[in-house]
Amino acid sequence: MDKEYAVQMASSNLRFGAGVTKEVGMDLTDMGIGRVLVFTDKNLKDRQPVQTVLESLESEKVEFELFDNVRVEPTDYSMKEAIDFATAGNYEAYIAVGGGSTIDTAKVANLYATYPDDFYTYINAPIGLGKPVPGPLKPLIAIPTTAGTGSETTGVAIMDLSERHAKSGIAHRYLKPILGLVDSENTKGMPAVIAASSGLDVLCHALESYTAIPFSDRSRPTRPIYRPAYQGSNPISDMWALKAIELTTKYLVRAVKNPNDDEARSNMILAASMAGMGFGNAGVHLCHGMSYPVSGMVRDYQPEGLNLSHPIVPHGMSVILNAPAVFRFTGSACPERHLAVAQLMGADVSKVRDIKNEAGELLARSIINLMKELDIPNGLSAIGYSEDDIPALAAGTLPQHRVTKLSPRPVNAEDFKRMFSDAMVAWK
Ligand SMILES: NC(=O)c1ccc[n+]([C@@H]2O[C@H](COP(=O)([O-])OP(=O)(O)OC[C@H]3O[C@@H](n4cnc5c(N)ncnc54)[C@H](O)[C@@H]3O)[C@@H](O)[C@H]2O)c1
Repeated sequence: MDKEYAVQMASSNLRFGAGVTKEVGMDLTDMGIGRVLVFTDKNLKDRQPVQTVLESLESEKVEFELFDNVRVEPTDYSMKEAIDFATAGNYEAYIAVGGGSTIDTAKVANLYATYPDDFYTYINAPIGLGKPVPGPLKPLIAIPTTAGTGSETTGVAIMDLSERHAKSGIAHRYLKPILGLVDSENTKGMPAVIAASSGLDVLCHALESYTAIPFSDRSRPTRPIYRPAYQGSNPISDMWALKAIELTTKYLVRAVKNPNDDEARSNMILAASMAGMGFGNAGVHLCHGMSYPVSGMVRDYQPEGLNLSHPIVPHGMSVILNAPAVFRFTGSACPERHLAVAQLMGADVSKVRDIKNEAGELLARSIINLMKELDIPNGLSAIGYSEDDIPALAAGTLPQHRVTKLSPRPVNAEDFKRMFSDAMVAWK
């Protein structure tokens, strides 16, 4: 096998600043676009971020329709409804105002409305065929209202495939929005549980991309076009990840506890985009891979403060609950990296003697401290899972090759079972 020798940074086009949402109408006018479809979810449709977008479109006389039926934690069914809506309207461009659920729905609707095909054609292999997106899509402007997924920067869209009982997605650079308007005014109304869980998603994006296998351990593709978006840790992504960890450590608790803390909110939405630029080119690994069955197998958990018609485990919560167990497992594979990020999160590393065996535990404890401060449930058992669910949780993680293969330590079904068992209770 020829080892990889190159890394490609697909950069994102972002505009960052409190209030930039109101510029979206002018952006469309300047692009010569006169008719768009705006995506959002039912909870957001009457809130300030959406209202600001609609006012901006009206003042620039850009024609629009609103699709407000985005499902929080999208599924194949909800995606198909959005695709049908987009296809029927033949719009010139799309705007997504919302969290990762909304931005991902807009990406998928844009793809299938532009290049219609069987639904599983573009879904990641082995669940789907993993066919590359054939060419550029129509312009999508992403306006995040959570400080979390970084979806405004990535070529990734995630959904629950209810027909196949798996969570997967589509990953291709052509899915990237042409512009992200990163505006801290839009995260003011986030319920505390979403502010906390989406912020912990940022942390895990950064921790996982920084501790992923090095890009140079992958095999070299036969043509540049086959180089994946998720390339493994690399010097460019590392820079974004480290900065995102620093900002999250400093500002997440403040942003959750006081939504009027403009400085904290502004730094958290910046951290989300920074982590997105990092993991969008490096990838994530086991915390995310294990989160997919945790959210997909939800029974009746409904976090406080959300008024939803269906149970969900908020995405960031499903990720962070696995994180202590994961980093205990991966710590020995690249202990210097685990120690460096634990230190960045405030851990005292001065007493470490056996870095190979201690670094992962130190990082796990730093994460648990943050979970406690943010009132995150105490492990998977606190959101309704028990030891009896472990075989199914492990089986649900196995098909997530796209991310689990980026683990710095090789992992098998028994390892997943042990990690899920460890993740049942985070602290005594
Ligand atoms: N594409 C990517 O790169 C990527 C990366 C990570 C996660 N994801 C996906 O993104 C989804 C999670 O997205 P998310 O965590 O951003 O949340 P979300 O879009 O699922 O929204 C969660 C809840 O918060 C509400 N909400 C969002 N912003 C609000 C605001 N400002 N005020 C009031 N309520 C608000 C929503 O209405 C919803 O009820 C998951 O499906 C996940 O798999 C995608």
